[in-house]
Amino acid sequence: MQKQFKTVIEPFKIKTVEPITITDRRQREEWLKEAKYNTFKLKSDQVIIDLLTDSGTSAMSAEQWAGVMRGDESYAGSVSWQRMEKVIKDLTGYPHILPTHQGRAAERILYSHLGGEDKVFLSNTHFDTTRANVEYSGAKAIDCIIPEAYDPDNDFTFKGNADVDTMEQHIREYGADHIGAVILTVTNNSGGGQPVSMENTRQIRDLCRRHGILFILDACRVAENAWFIKQHESGYSGKSCREIASEMFSLADGCVMSAKKDALVNMGGFLALNDPDLADHCTNMLIITEGYTTYGGLSGCDMEAIAIGLDEIFNEDYLQYRTRSTAYLGEHLDKMGIPVIKPIGGHAVYVDAGRLYNHIPPEKYPGHAMACELYKIGGIRSVEIGSVMFGKYDENGDLIPAPRELVRLAIPRRVYTQSHVDYVIEAFGFLKEGKDEVKGYQITKEPKFLRHFTAHFEPVQ
Ligand code: F0G
Repeated sequence: MQKQFKTVIEPFKIKTVEPITITDRRQREEWLKEAKYNTFKLKSDQVIIDLLTDSGTSAMSAEQWAGVMRGDESYAGSVSWQRMEKVIKDLTGYPHILPTHQGRAAERILYSHLGGEDKVFLSNTHFDTTRANVEYSGAKAIDCIIPEAYDPDNDFTFKGNADVDTMEQHIREYGADHIGAVILTVTNNSGGGQPVSMENTRQIRDLCRRHGILFILDACRVAENAWFIKQHESGYSGKSCREIASEMFSLADGCVMSAKKDALVNMGGFLALNDPDLADHCTNMLIITEGYTTYGGLSGCDMEAIAIGLDEIFNEDYLQYRTRSTAYLGEHLDKMGIPVIKPIGGHAVYVDAGRLYNHIPPEKYPGHAMACELYKIGGIRSVEIGSVMFGKYDENGDLIPAPRELVRLAIPRRVYTQSHVDYVIEAFGFLKEGKDEVKGYQITKEPKFLRHFTAHFEPVQ
């Protein structure tokens, strides 16, 4: 009889390795000080485990590297473009595909055309670059997420769902003519990487149809989202994740996708649309700012790797391992009493630093303090998603804190093994033991915009 194994293994073997430099705490303290206590300023060879992002950090497969060799670098009509275009058309069903160098380029092209001073965009949650592109056009970006998402302990599976009633109220308030688009981000990165259900997607499709509004998917983690639907939404257990993703695309009028996530490549993206007129407008902008229509800022070898990655990502042994290994980290931290956002999403674990370091006020940046501690303890790089990233100042110069002080541990695809993850879990054990000694940080220098990338910090004495 076939035995049922509990262990979900990495469904791949390692053919090429990249060395990790093992460092000690004294060195790391020195480097962190040199980096003005900003982990973005660390050099990557000063980092042991890099959980800064899952974007562009995937390990490519032997097939993808073989594709890189095949890459056709012709300026016009590249064979690699033809492959990439076909894979995307087959998956999404959209007839007009525009290649871009990454996701935000597709966003800029689309939202600068649809946006403007009198426009409003609605989303479950606009990712930072989405919001920035919408707002840069002069338009307003409004997040409409279900109430469950505000409770970190509520483990409702589809916590990425949009609040359709709130969207409808905004449509009534601003008028359908003023809605640039409804954007559904799957999975919802800024919320915790939680999925959106097909039912919710269908409701949004109906809402958009009723009001004649364009419906766009931000599809960069659509395969991970499909896996959650297959596991948890009734009627989908017998469908393949690829079929589920295709169904989701069929409900929207188009998508933007950063290929740096679920297309398993280090660079790339695309915009895909149903409407030929909209596609024409976007194509003009593509040629002016990205490149000709058959490469859009990408090399032939990148396009070849995207075509292959978009196929590999739907391997369900991979998706099981992917979501299981992320959950493994989250569940272990939870058991150790480290507060995490629940349920654990697809690409990252979000630690609630504000709760663990409840003795550090937002003005002393508990999330930032946790990111620095993780680096000092284990050479682990994470990213603060709290008041350093989203804090603002009032007219007296006092901090208006972010709603939560989080630290994101994003897991690169096919890169780290279970022992790397066990090492991270162990580091959190040390972090918890020493939590009361951590006092927080103050900012000594900051730029006007996106301060988290370049600000200088100092530990509070
Ligand atoms: N949309 C979502 C949901 C994203 O997570 C990202 C990038 C983008 C759009 C933009 O894509 O980077 O290719 O221009 N997220 C990365 C992250 C940066 O770390 O979460 P891009």
